[in-house]
Amino acid sequence: MWWKILLVIVGVIVAALVAAVVGAAVWGKGRSAEAVSAFEDAPPYTFPEGFLWGTATADHQIENSQNDDWTAFERAVLANKRFDSIAPGTARPGHIRNLGAYPENVVQRKTDFDGRMESDLDLARDMNANAFRFSISWARLFPTPEQTEPDPEGIAYYRRLFDALKQRRLEPVVTLFHFASPAWLWAAEGGKRGLERDDALEHFERYVRAVAESFGGDATIWCTINEPMVYAYLGHLDGVFPPNERRGDPSEVEGLLVRLLEAHALAYRVLKEDARRRGGDAKVGLTHHVRSFEPLRSWAPLDRVTARMVEEAFVWDLADAVHTGVLEVATTPIHRTIPGLKGTQDYVGINYYGRYYTRSNALAPTKFAILQRDPDAEEQVNDLGWASYPRGFYETLAEAERRYDLPIYVLESGTADQADDDVDRQLYIVDHVREMWRAIHHAEADVRGYFHWSLTDNFEWAEGFEGRFGLVAIDYQHDLRRTPRPSAKLFGEIAAANGLSEPLAKRCTSAR
Ligand code: BGC
Repeated sequence: MWWKILLVIVGVIVAALVAAVVGAAVWGKGRSAEAVSAFEDAPPYTFPEGFLWGTATADHQIENSQNDDWTAFERAVLANKRFDSIAPGTARPGHIRNLGAYPENVVQRKTDFDGRMESDLDLARDMNANAFRFSISWARLFPTPEQTEPDPEGIAYYRRLFDALKQRRLEPVVTLFHFASPAWLWAAEGGKRGLERDDALEHFERYVRAVAESFGGDATIWCTINEPMVYAYLGHLDGVFPPNERRGDPSEVEGLLVRLLEAHALAYRVLKEDARRRGGDAKVGLTHHVRSFEPLRSWAPLDRVTARMVEEAFVWDLADAVHTGVLEVATTPIHRTIPGLKGTQDYVGINYYGRYYTRSNALAPTKFAILQRDPDAEEQVNDLGWASYPRGFYETLAEAERRYDLPIYVLESGTADQADDDVDRQLYIVDHVREMWRAIHHAEADVRGYFHWSLTDNFEWAEGFEGRFGLVAIDYQHDLRRTPRPSAKLFGEIAAANGLSEPLAKRCTSAR
């Protein structure tokens, strides 16, 4: 008798294991051994006519400090000397890495784009770019909560920027909310702060209407919100961005995610109405931070399933929500229908940086780890410890096409590298441009533009000034002197050729 019971138990265990392995094979993500796609096509890799080649940046990372939440955070960090990090690329909550090593007027002025706007944009034009992505500072237009009209100096500043872009034939791509918000928004109202306040949308609408009224005729491509998931995660769960909260449970950011999507839908309506009134055109969307999530151990079913779930939750669920009007976040109970959201994107914005790995624990499946690199693999890793994964760029673009069938703009992609030879950045650019070309030609991805992050080195949030993403280097110790890196020249050649010419593709890929 006992052996029959034993047989049943063994049978159940084997069936469960088989189910797990088959399930992981079907739903889980695999891990690719190769960092780049196998290339069957010979160069040149030429892009569609009218393709936008630009660089991207954001207000708080380059402009003189405004009265926003990040400025308040930086002041507190300086006052309390909180300059640590766990490791490059892994910030310590409440700290900004090595901020104390930089002169205070640098912290205050960042890259001083305010003072060097013209010459910086000359650098962009000299790279043969035809577009430029930047963001408007909400705090600069509305430094106080009582205002019903935007600050005239703030408007004059962005007028100067729009005019400078026009003179250089750089098409503006304008972001409305790129992580920083006015400091006053953080005063508690009815026990809530920031975008979670009951009156937040009212204030946001006033800001968006002011932008539309002043600059609606100056731009066609608008990005409402930059990386909503990163904003929610880093500020409210991980604690490394203001408001430096660690809420513990992802379901506690449901209200914030809904609010961000409502703000997006509101901005979409305002900008579309404005364009209609002017008899013009507005392409409005938002952009998502994308990583390819793959299992650290391809053989481990739970790593594979976790990779799939995390990628859904972190990357696609928000983009899906804008498509369907329903926000559902994998691995959480979050499920909400958001009126007015469905279909409010004319394009899909992708910010792509590389690969993350998932490592799970069979005894505690909800306590998985996310690794920026595989410690046992030889892979291209940048100054922040991020693994480069060009092949994932192809897959991301193909997936975005498959899911939404909309135009795609790559609104950011780049790497942190301050080595003098600049070889890693050059390889990064060539590899990613090739993968993007492949996505257009083999996956029919309707990619319309690529914006390299970033024009110059800049303030890399909790990494302080340490993550150097610029095609142009900045010497923070010597009057913010600008020096184009070799990759600036390379980018210029790509933009001029509208793609990768044969010699260019060969020169760079053979340097690997
Ligand atoms: C953000 C940028 C940031 C870049 C590099 C993106 O997540 O939009 O503001 O500087 O990544 O980390």
